[in-house]
Amino acid sequence: MGDLIKDKDSLLGKEVSLCGWVDRVRDHGKLRFIMLRDRTGQIQLVVKQGETPEEAVKASNEARDEAVICVKGTLRKAPTKEGVEVAVREMSVLNRPVEPLPLLPRDSLSAILDTRLKFRWLDVRNPKVTKVFLLQAWVAQKFREYFSSKGFVEIFTPKIVGAGTEGGAEVFPVIYFGKPAFLAQSPQFYKQFSVIAGLERVFEVGPVFRAEPHHTTRHLTEYHSMDIEVGFIQSYYDVISFVEGFVKHLAEAMRKEELPQRVLQEYNVEPLEIPGEVPKIPLRKAYEILDSEFKKHIPYGEDLDSEGEKLLGQYVKERFKSDLVFVTEYPWKVRPFYTMRKEDEPDWTYSFDGLLRGLEIVTGGQREHRYERLVENVKDKGMNPKNFEFYLNFFKHGAPPHGGAGLGLERITMQSLKLENIREARLLPRDPETLLP
Ligand code: 4AD
Repeated sequence: MGDLIKDKDSLLGKEVSLCGWVDRVRDHGKLRFIMLRDRTGQIQLVVKQGETPEEAVKASNEARDEAVICVKGTLRKAPTKEGVEVAVREMSVLNRPVEPLPLLPRDSLSAILDTRLKFRWLDVRNPKVTKVFLLQAWVAQKFREYFSSKGFVEIFTPKIVGAGTEGGAEVFPVIYFGKPAFLAQSPQFYKQFSVIAGLERVFEVGPVFRAEPHHTTRHLTEYHSMDIEVGFIQSYYDVISFVEGFVKHLAEAMRKEELPQRVLQEYNVEPLEIPGEVPKIPLRKAYEILDSEFKKHIPYGEDLDSEGEKLLGQYVKERFKSDLVFVTEYPWKVRPFYTMRKEDEPDWTYSFDGLLRGLEIVTGGQREHRYERLVENVKDKGMNPKNFEFYLNFFKHGAPPHGGAGLGLERITMQSLKLENIREARLLPRDPETLLP
């Protein structure tokens, strides 16, 4: 339909053939208007007794809300939003709902989120909801495009794994032929493996699993992580540069390309604003800013909470006209064992988070690549190096200095469209209660 509407001038007066869903019907007795919807848009169909062939008029009696139909007819000018309509000549009803609709696609956004997710196949038919997933696919495509252009190789790593990577108990156990295993929390170990194995620059877009029992508007138990890992870095600032380059690429493309423009317009949001120089603020400086500007106290050595992130986002938007800020040098105690500690201040690390419109969308840093230090890190976190032997072995035979980052696809989608809940940005979200559909 998209092409049809684009090419409407050349198609006027010609026969067109369309399939889709019935979005709504306006019945005026002898005259019936049917809105036909497909993934690209909507168009009005006209069925008029005395003008439309008898067979088609009959078929149109069955074309109720959300029936699946195909039509043939002539495209002609009309005072509709699209400026055209189809005078129907043939119609076939391929399928009809077998029960009253529990959710009307065209009104789905007025239902509560739980209802929308319960009947997601109807919810996503709403053109505004469809667009979330068009944008999401576009973001993932931009990620692949950007990192491929920088010489990164796409990798595909195991999702059934023998150990957690991010520390803590947030792993889903699975039984693997009688042996205990887990769903991958992150491709962390295997993206590092790939650099060490000589691929040097790698990226992956894939599902990750987090057994986070809490309900927030920004956590899912399954999400898509866009990961990078790069060898031979001078410092973790090289990793920040890659992430910054990607977000700039995304922001520029949002202003230039037709698809994101169309989606952003529907959501009435501005494209991301990313200045030439994105602000980078050490966490210890961020504590001071939050204290002095907002009277918001974060205990020294702790991570930012969600309010702290929001306020810092507000601060950089006002001061630097930036939707993105990097917060650097996180405390060792809140970072996973693979993070490299600062040489001169071992309680702090060469690591960063990136906040987009006041929400963390990326975490990254330099990794400890020196075998002995890595073993020390494991012990320092109170863990047994024996349990990580398979991973530690990678570092025994020449691991280059390296670093990387993981970006949350749903969080980027959510922040780009200013959605209130991350579940809106996942086709079939998983949370502690939801395993179906
Ligand atoms: O901060 P996280 O846990 O970092 C890692 O996975 C590291 N292995 C990354 C690295 O290369 N050092 O997760 C990375 C990003 C977060 O910044 C956030 O955008 C997203 O993943 N994320 C979640 N998104 C949805 N639901 C959750 N439960 C998320 N947890 C993290």
